[in-house]
Amino acid sequence: MKFTTQEDFDAKIKSVLITEEEIKNAIGRAGEYINNLYDGRPILIVSILKGAFVFMADVLRAVTVPCEIDFMVAKSYYSGTVSSGMVQITMDLTHDVGDYHVVILEDIVDTGRTLHDVVGLLKERHPLSLHVITLLDKPERRVVDYTPDLSLFVIPDRFVIGYGLDYGEYFRNLPYIAECEG
Ligand code: IMP
Ligand code: MG
Repeated sequence: MKFTTQEDFDAKIKSVLITEEEIKNAIGRAGEYINNLYDGRPILIVSILKGAFVFMADVLRAVTVPCEIDFMVAKSYYSGTVSSGMVQITMDLTHDVGDYHVVILEDIVDTGRTLHDVVGLLKERHPLSLHVITLLDKPERRVVDYTPDLSLFVIPDRFVIGYGLDYGEYFRNLPYIAECEG
């Protein structure tokens, strides 16, 4: 899918679900959560690409404890809005998590498959501790039993875009979270 006109692109943005201001406040909560949990201990903040890269960039600047960052690519949606039901790790971490307290930042928990699998995989590598913070959580859609340590926004079963989240690789650039049309 390609958008070739501004009108077609704009028409996919149905309504704003979470404003920039609300996101900003939530980032503060995520930062506080991390700062209270660790106290000069070695922490590694991991984000799952691509969706969580905007979230990671903001949370990182709300963190005051010494930290390193790393990335992982896990895909469960290949295109469009329907889950394929498969999680693929296509790019792994460069750090040895055995040396770190790990905080995973995720954009959204939907069926729960991605985090269920990623957490399982990282636990096998014996991190000092492991916590998961998600920006968005759609509990109604869960097909595997998985609950993040912190969900900043619990949302209804709607396909959402913006602030890193995409529809067919578009809309990651929106500074707010919107519901996607159709
Ligand atoms: P899960 O494995 O089904 O929990 O899916 C998690 C991944 O699916 C997220 O990291 C997103 O990349 C994608 N996803 C799920 N729901 C949405 C949505 O509403 N908008 C955009 N991406 C979504
Ligand atoms: Mg994602």
